[in-house]
Amino acid sequence: MAVNGPRPIIIGNWKMNGTSESLGEIRLMTGMLDGVELGCDVVVCPPATLIRQVHEMLSESKIGTGGQDCHPEPNGAFTGDISAEMLRDAGARYVILGHSERRHYHDESDALVRRKAEAAHRAGLVAIICVGETELERGAGDTLDVVSRQLAGSVPKGSGAENTIIAYEPVWAIGSGVTPTSDEIGEVHRAVRHWLAERLGDEAARAMRILYGGSVKSTNAADIFAIPDVDGSLVGQASLKAKDFLGIIGQFAPC
Ligand code: 13P
Repeated sequence: MAVNGPRPIIIGNWKMNGTSESLGEIRLMTGMLDGVELGCDVVVCPPATLIRQVHEMLSESKIGTGGQDCHPEPNGAFTGDISAEMLRDAGARYVILGHSERRHYHDESDALVRRKAEAAHRAGLVAIICVGETELERGAGDTLDVVSRQLAGSVPKGSGAENTIIAYEPVWAIGSGVTPTSDEIGEVHRAVRHWLAERLGDEAARAMRILYGGSVKSTNAADIFAIPDVDGSLVGQASLKAKDFLGIIGQFAPC
């Protein structure tokens, strides 16, 4: 984490997990955090079906709620889709965009991710824009090229620290239990910060949060958060259980 850098943020991505039964984990989380002063911002991104309930359960806490995707248009004949305005109406203040699972399983291009990020900004949501290379791309030495191409295509004009977060998630580290070395993570985060400075200016680049995601757990979180330019994490599996998630959040508890 950068000294004097932005306030860290931990974001839980529940992916396609969670029914009303899972609300018990939110209850456990609020109970365990009651009266605790957090050393970082915290956001939970449940499936869309639970956003309103999670938002209401978290309303007394400082924990935010987010969606996992949105359509670029505000409304219309797009069966099955959800707009940024609808997420906002349900209580979301954040939305994950361009996650590698969306890029892969739904063929999402950088241009589409950018339109979705513009929609998020239009609706007053913070866009969490995901980038990251595949194992093949890393093997070919293309990591930094891939990440900067994704940033160039996906981050819209008008992005700043107040409406955008970047999440670096190497595809091969997601759900695999394998993480890059600290040097590898640091190299990409430094390059992302540099790219942001060139496009948005030094001040915006310094203030914007750059998260690492991919097999983060309580046992490796401290090492990852110690890497310069890592301002928190986007957490998948370890965000599903309150105890595991708090083990990560706790790394930032003020002493
Ligand atoms: P895991 O933490 O399960 O590896 O998932 C990371 C992720 O994809 C978060 O968006």
